[in-house]
Amino acid sequence: MAQTPNIQWFPGHMAKTRRLIQDQVKLVDLVVEITDARIPQSSRNPELDKWVGGKRRLLVLNKCDAADPGITARWLQYYQETGVPAIAVDAKSGKGVGQFLPAVRELLSDVTERLARKGMVGRPLRMMIVGIPNVGKSSFINRVAKEKRARVEDRPGVTTGKQWIAVAKDVDLMDTPGVLWPKFEDPAVGEKLAFTGAVKDQIMDVELLAVRLLGWLREEYPALLEGRYRLTPEDTAGREDYELLELVGRKRGMLISGGEVDTLRAATMLLDEYRGGKLGRLSLEAPPRKGAAQ
Ligand code: G4P
Repeated sequence: MAQTPNIQWFPGHMAKTRRLIQDQVKLVDLVVEITDARIPQSSRNPELDKWVGGKRRLLVLNKCDAADPGITARWLQYYQETGVPAIAVDAKSGKGVGQFLPAVRELLSDVTERLARKGMVGRPLRMMIVGIPNVGKSSFINRVAKEKRARVEDRPGVTTGKQWIAVAKDVDLMDTPGVLWPKFEDPAVGEKLAFTGAVKDQIMDVELLAVRLLGWLREEYPALLEGRYRLTPEDTAGREDYELLELVGRKRGMLISGGEVDTLRAATMLLDEYRGGKLGRLSLEAPPRKGAAQ
């Protein structure tokens, strides 16, 4: 998609965040990378590997309520098999968030033991939350912190004034700003980020995006598409994706003078409904099947 790449890249914002992460990562025991369960790979910032080096990582597939549960289960298995610890959560309702603290305590049990050996029993485990914009970082932190949310004012060795939050007596989290990366090598990645709303609509051609989404839906989830917009298989057969958008708009009575369809309104409605989960639980990407060529 021609419109998506590069524009979302605010060089100053990215450089600042990169410096913050590179600077603070030395102080943490774990990097918690929040991703969107509908696009677990496409929502991972490829720059991050350079910024955090070999620091241990936990993947959190958030918004799993919006993703196809069967595909999310396959992603979790895929990550387990590839040695990347991962959990799936829904930070909006809180479902699955309870796994987080036990998972990090288990992952970092060696750190706890080492600290105990050194007599640093009171030193909390420190982790940094990273993720692209809109992936649910704040929602997740609020859920994990519950009423315990408290800013950490003074931790020895830790720069204050940063976004440190004590979420349990033994766990501190540091929030970081959400950033995208300069260039989507694969245009499909940019497109998926736009479908889910990680790339802002203001900088995109909304109609083109909706047409592309319709094209994808009619291929992958035709029954959900037809059910939502009361389309018959005959309605969709032989129509171009753009004509399908017109038909969807017409069915919803989105007309302008002369009986033409207000396709911009129809496009905005389609994207809103998709993002709001009205079309059902849809995953935009699945892990490679075992034995399939990569
Ligand atoms: P950020 O800090 O990473 O930028 O994300 P934030 O928590 O602000 O969440 C971005 C949007 O994603 C919010 O929706 C939020 O409600 C939604 N969200 C977060 N976690 C989940 C989840 O697990 N499932 C679903 N379905 N949505 C989630 P919004 O439309 O911007 O605001 P609102 O709907 O909360 O008013």
